Amino acid sequence: MSATVYLETFGCQMNVADSERAAVRLRAAGFNLGDSPENADVIIFNTCSVRERAAHKVFTRIGEVRRQRLSDEPIVGVIGCVAQLEGATLFDSSPLVNLIAGTRATDRLPQLIGRALDGENRIIDLDERREGEKWDLPATARTSKYVAFVPIIEGCNKFCTYCIVPYSRGREKSRPASEIVAEIKELRDHGYREIHLIGQNVNSYRPHVNSYRPRTEAGLEGFKGATLFCRLLRAVAATEMERIKFTTSFPRDFHPDIVAAIDEYDNLCEWIHLPVQSGSDRVLRMMRRGHTASDYFKRIEAIKNARRRMSITSDIIVGFPGETDADFRDTMKLVEQVAYDGLYIFKYSERPGTPAARLDDNVSREEKTTRFLELEQVQRRLQQTIYERYLGREIKVLIERPSSKSEDDLTGHSTCHKVVNFPAPAAWLGEVARVRVTQAKSNSLYGEILSAP
Ligand code: 5AD
Ligand code: SF4
Repeated sequence: MSATVYLETFGCQMNVADSERAAVRLRAAGFNLGDSPENADVIIFNTCSVRERAAHKVFTRIGEVRRQRLSDEPIVGVIGCVAQLEGATLFDSSPLVNLIAGTRATDRLPQLIGRALDGENRIIDLDERREGEKWDLPATARTSKYVAFVPIIEGCNKFCTYCIVPYSRGREKSRPASEIVAEIKELRDHGYREIHLIGQNVNSYRPHVNSYRPRTEAGLEGFKGATLFCRLLRAVAATEMERIKFTTSFPRDFHPDIVAAIDEYDNLCEWIHLPVQSGSDRVLRMMRRGHTASDYFKRIEAIKNARRRMSITSDIIVGFPGETDADFRDTMKLVEQVAYDGLYIFKYSERPGTPAARLDDNVSREEKTTRFLELEQVQRRLQQTIYERYLGREIKVLIERPSSKSEDDLTGHSTCHKVVNFPAPAAWLGEVARVRVTQAKSNSLYGEILSAP
């Protein structure tokens, strides 16, 4: 009988995409994929280390599994970002942990698990991808049947001083455009309505210099653009995939030609996630972001001058070492000026091994919380005004799943990436519907379907 593997995923969309790919490789190798850790022979945690709390989650989960499975001892594997960073020390965290695989070992997971099942102890693989290991994922193997994440670049070369990602995911590696475009065409042919191009910094997509072999511009021929990412956007738009979104953008690499491309193609959605982290030039310098608040504003201006009204979202870190009250006021001012459609606020969390970890983490926990709440309140007020502007308007929503709040409602995202709920029959899942907005809530819109899809 073949072994059952249970795979649990924490963290960002890149981890979700990695887990989808791992699941395909495991099924192809003859494993069963289980949906709970209770009866699985092998339990794999795909981990995140971006903040301390995220990194800690895996240890809590291992403890829970251990208590649940006192009588038999499943093999526990740790993969992803925590695995890459902690390496063999994880073996000491629990006697159950017998397999450690880093962020680029996805394709080798079946063999690694096979070895563990054969009784080998303490298996570890933190290596790079090997030649011939691809990122491809068949359309039939995705978590969602309507929205697909398509990695275009992994890793990061920016080394912002607070950030662990360059260490957990290594240097930037782009995926050949021809492979990306082929995957999107396949998704389109299988009825997918929306794709997200994903990467830690999609704007620095450069397959001719930083891809796994081959280093090539193949797939971009005939598409113009100020950067290779702009050319890729146009090549992807030309597949006629219905809705195309991309995350995450990086201010320094965000070329205004991205806005021009969005202006040209209606299927490039009117939403940009452009994290700023701080509104203080002093803090931005300490974070080594490579831009000032005013540089950032120039990008925002370009986005606001687009043909369609764009949604803009951002990430902010409060309480970076040395952040003064005046610095924080600068952040508040920037947030007021931009008026974001959505904001993810994080309290600074020291990550071992990053340059900022050598600084004195001197903003007290209380102060971080105070700033967090103050910023959250300002954002709530600004967001309310923005959301209310949608009242009475018609938007296009991809119906993705039943609402968790009401049995009669379904939920999905608009092209501007707002969460929208509305009453509709379950048969409409996967359709794109025209919805008139009737209520603006704090983090979502509510509406009624205007016409059956
Ligand atoms: N502490 C707090 N927030 C962080 N982020 C990244 N590293 C840290 C850290 N050490 C946030 C940033 C980033 C988002 C994904 O997580 O805002 O954009
Ligand atoms: Fe977490 Fe960053 Fe790794 Fe994604 S890349 S899983 S956000 S640490």
